[in-house]
Amino acid sequence: MHPDCERILLSEQEIAARVQEAGAWLDEKFAGTVPVAVCNLKGSAVFFADVLRATHLDMEMDFMAVSSYGANAVSSGKPFVKRDLFSSVEGRDVLLVEDIVDTGRTLVTLRQFFKERGARSVTVVALLDKPARRVVDANADFICFSVEDEFLVGYGLDYAEKYRNLPYIGILKRSVYEK
Ligand code: PRP
Repeated sequence: MHPDCERILLSEQEIAARVQEAGAWLDEKFAGTVPVAVCNLKGSAVFFADVLRATHLDMEMDFMAVSSYGANAVSSGKPFVKRDLFSSVEGRDVLLVEDIVDTGRTLVTLRQFFKERGARSVTVVALLDKPARRVVDANADFICFSVEDEFLVGYGLDYAEKYRNLPYIGILKRSVYEK
């Protein structure tokens, strides 16, 4: 385990098992369609790669970045589009892949964004959900893990851009982000 972690919350094996379940759910949900899977960079990149390979669907991939955190541990509360999509989603079924739904503001911003771009439907699959942190009414359609309000890193999640490459999800030691 990384020395900056207090403990492992979700092991590689636990994540992999749940990602397979998410893949099966997506196979059913999108049967007969060719969705555009959108990765909201950067945190979702690792989950995106795994969950899409757990499906048997024909799909396209696209990438964008909406961010509200910058280099801080606390959300600024104003998500903004930092990088736009490569392609149009007009008339398409969008599968948005998120690493975490925290306050829910990013999800509200993105659902609105896809609506404005003329998407036919928007389905959200999220690796993690922190319901205790929610300030707006926004939910994913499939959640892999509902978690407590702790500072999590790994499997795509960062603190000041570090720890994204850890293969598990760990709880970051307070001493790391309170110094
Ligand atoms: C994180 C995460 C979600 C969002 C969730 O992104 O990836 O997109 O915050 O927070 P919310 O529900 O409070 O809006 P972040 O801004 O940290 O960027 P990153 O993915 O590049 O780390």
